[in-house]
Amino acid sequence: MVKKKRPINLDLSTIHFPLTAIASILHRISGVIIFLSIGVILWLLDLSLSSPKGFLRASLMMDNFVFKFFMWGVLSTLSYHIVSGIRHMMMDFNLLGVTLQVGKFSAQISFFIAMVLSILSGVLIW
Ligand code: HEM
Repeated sequence: MVKKKRPINLDLSTIHFPLTAIASILHRISGVIIFLSIGVILWLLDLSLSSPKGFLRASLMMDNFVFKFFMWGVLSTLSYHIVSGIRHMMMDFNLLGVTLQVGKFSAQISFFIAMVLSILSGVLIW
């Protein structure tokens, strides 16, 4: 016989990822983004070192808003990855407690530090 009172939860808006899960997945995504952007950055470095003309072309590209925005995105992503990576390593070395409360708090702190570094990256680029 089928049980009539089965638990149901169809209201998807009541289901949220916890902050620690968001911090974790963003760390992995940021790692992939950094990996992919290394190609573009190495290409730009190669162009700037190829000749005086190449250097000028690279400088001109860096004046372009879209390229600046890309660089800002890469620096912000890198900032988050490094800050979150340090948090991970601190947890691995047991320098932070491994409780849900500490995990939540350290995730909030790392989001905040990454945001400050992201703003500073924008100031550096523009
Ligand atoms: C070229 C620069 C980097 C690239 C391309 C990169 C890429 C990645 C990727 C793709 C992952 C995800 C691995 C997975 O979840 O299976 C990862 C994890 C990690 N990265 Fe990076 N990373 C870079 C720099 C750094 C730096 C500078 C730090 C230092 C803070 C760092 C700390 C970590 C740590 C601790 C993890 C493991 C996190 C965990 O245990 O889930 N990474 N990295």
